[in-house]
Parts: sequence; structure tokens; C-alpha cells
Amino acid sequence: MPLMIVVGAQWGDEGKGRIVDYLAARADVVARYNGGDNAGHTVTIGDRIFRLHLIPSGIVHPHTVAVMGNGMVVFPPTLTEEMTSLRSAGVAIAPSRLHISPGAHLITPAHRALDRAMETARRGKAIGTTGRGIGPAYMDKAARRGLRMADVLVPDFGERLRAHLQEANRTLHLLGAPELDVEAEAQAYLEHTSPLGVYVREVSAELSQALQRGQMVLAEGAQGTLLDLDHGTYPFVTSSSTVAPAALTGLGLGLSVSRDARVIGVVKAFLTRVGAGPFPTEVEGEMAERLRGSGANPWDEFGTTTGRPRRVGWLDGILLRYAVRVNGLTELIITKLDILSGLETIKICTAYAVHNATIYDLPGGPDDLTACTPLYEELPGWQEDITHVRRWSDLPKNAQRYLERIASLAETPIRMVSLGPEREQIFEL
Ligand code: IMP
Repeated sequence: MPLMIVVGAQWGDEGKGRIVDYLAARADVVARYNGGDNAGHTVTIGDRIFRLHLIPSGIVHPHTVAVMGNGMVVFPPTLTEEMTSLRSAGVAIAPSRLHISPGAHLITPAHRALDRAMETARRGKAIGTTGRGIGPAYMDKAARRGLRMADVLVPDFGERLRAHLQEANRTLHLLGAPELDVEAEAQAYLEHTSPLGVYVREVSAELSQALQRGQMVLAEGAQGTLLDLDHGTYPFVTSSSTVAPAALTGLGLGLSVSRDARVIGVVKAFLTRVGAGPFPTEVEGEMAERLRGSGANPWDEFGTTTGRPRRVGWLDGILLRYAVRVNGLTELIITKLDILSGLETIKICTAYAVHNATIYDLPGGPDDLTACTPLYEELPGWQEDITHVRRWSDLPKNAQRYLERIASLAETPIRMVSLGPEREQIFEL
């Protein structure tokens, strides 16, 4: 099965970075297909922590080729900064092993300014975006006036960039937001785009050929299913397609390659969300602090990109079944099981009460979650430290029961469990 698609099965931050890092050891090509530097994938190797926002996290394995697909939106200053920090950590970054699709769209400082201005204009109804310009960049893409990676190779790119910044200033003015200094922004931006031209390369044919040769392509999704533009908790979503089928359009692959694909859903053992929007199983108070952590550790529940404390809650079996359906998940990977050690009992949502009815599925999608009250099963917890466990039989019985309940609610097998931030704190079933 040469195509593996790794997607977040929840609201992002499921720990995909470390899972991709683990799976990339077997991959030939690692490819990102959606989103931009709103994502933050943390990879820990020994005492070094890599926080990657744009470059596929599998690049830290020296044998891989990394691809940034046409479905992405790229902010060049973040990209060049990431290249520099990876290089200084000894990771080779060269046109031979980093390929950026000419169809990937550019995020500009104007998109960032517009993102902030639009959030301010939403007043009490703000989405809580990461402020990285994601929405405005995809708006320009859909309006067919975006700037793309291919454009950085064209001699009149500077002029087109200045025209785009001037146009954005008109909108910023209407929104009552400060306008940009077009010349200063353009010059600074061009310094970051000019070194990128050598990395721009058609990736669709390259990926298809790699799959035909039997090479392993690992498609790395950013954000999570419930933040998908079409299938998430709209309008509290991101502006890209995050679900597994988007790996095909976001990389230029045809349907035939998906026939034997492993579609892997990464599921945190509890649930988190950043930003506004419905969250039926959310908890507050002491239990929230316990699940979130203090922020002292890099794996505590604070945003990798924005540092915001994440909202936390119990695992939601209904939303998980939904994620299995819209992604076509073939297997699950459970992360952060160790965080639940020490709890007396663990709740898991198995149904919703809606207007005097009990429902077990979301036939209409997650649009109207505010009307849903979660119904829980309460399972006994375990007290043992499980961070050293490396096989199923060494897990406490109650941890096994919890995992079995997740798999039965999702009707999907669990193939891997991670119990800590280190590369080796993971085992396969
Ligand atoms: P945007 O993607 O910056 O437009 O933000 C839209 C929504 O998606 C907000 O609720 C963000 O908090 C959320 N979001 C975007 N990227 C991520 C991510 O990588 N992890 C978790 N939430 C994210």
C-alpha cells in the first residue's frame, strides 16, 4: 500500500507531527496537501524540538523527499525561516529534496493584515483564526486573483505583488484598519520569495511516478476533520479542505491511487479545540486544567502557532464516527493516552440527546452541535504510569478497555498508540 494519508480526526493538534515523524521512517516521499503556517507540527528528537509550520515534518528523515502541494498556502518569510532553522539543526534543505508545487498559493502581508481586520470586524462573532492570513489567501484563490508559487519565477512578479498590496489597502481602508506601506512590504517580501524559485517544481507527475514505482508516499494533513471548510463545524473552520480525499486534489493525484491507500486517523485520547465554535464535550475548571497541563511542557495543550490555551474535553465518539465516514479512515492511531493516567474515571461520549431524541450518528454533519447534549459512558481509569509501555499486553486492563471502547465506537481498528512525546514512546498493535 504505497499511499498513506495521515489526517487529524478531531479539531487539529492530535499529535500528527510525531506520528508522521514515526511513519516517515518508512516513507520515500512526505507531502503536505493543505493549509499553511496556521499548522504547527512538533517533532521531538532527543533533546531537540522542531516546530514546523509549513515544511512537511517527515523532512527530518534524511532519506525522504518533501513535497508541498498545490492545495497549500505559503507565507515565504515563515518558509525561509524554517529552512534556516532546519539547516542549523543539521537537516539538509536543497532543491533535490524539497519541492514546492507551482500551484501552491502565496500568503502575503496583505492577507495577514486582512485576516486580523476581518476578525476585528466580526466583533463578538470572531472565528478565533490564527491570524496567519489563511482565509484571505484562499479567498483570493477562489476569486481567481491569487498569487502563486509559479509567479515568483516571472519577471513582472514585483509589479503584480505591488498591485495586490494596493488593492488590499483599499479593502483595509474600508474595514477601518491601518493600510500597508506598499513599497516597504514589497521589498521585504521579495527578499523572501527570490530564493524560493529553485524549489518550485511540478509535483503531481513526480508523486504519481513514485507511487507507480512502488515507493511509499506519506500525505500529511494539517488541522483536523472538524476544521474542514466543507465538513467541519462551519463557520468555525479553517479555509482549506483538511479531510483525506483532499490529499488527492491537493497533490494532483488521481482516484486510482487511493484504492489501496492506508487512511490513518490520528485521535487524541481526549479532545481539544483552539478558537471559537461548538464543542459538546468541553470541560472546564479543575478537570480542564488537569487535561490541559500547566504550559510548562511543550506537549501541554497550548497552541504551537499562537500559544493560546486550548479548550479541552472528553473524547466524542459521535464526532469520531463522523470523521471515520468523511475521511474513509482505515485505521486509528491514539495519542497522549498517558495524559489520562491517574484519573479515577474517564468519560466518553457515546450519544447525543437532541430535542428529546437520542442520536448515535450525525446524518446532517456537525453544523448544529450547539443543540446536542452529550451522553456519556464512564469507564474506570488506571493509576499506573504508562509512558514506558511498548506493547498492548503491558497496558493496564482499564487502559485496554478504554481503547477497545474507542475502536468499537469508531468501528475502526487501532493500529498504534503513543504514550509520550519521544520518538520511541509509541507501539504498534
Ligand atoms: P485559520 O486557519 O487561521 O483561518 O483559523 C480558523 C480556525 O482553525 C481557528 O479556530 C483556528 O484556531 C483553527 N486552526 C487553524 N489551524 C489550526 C491548527 O493547526 N490546529 C488547531 N486549530 C487550528
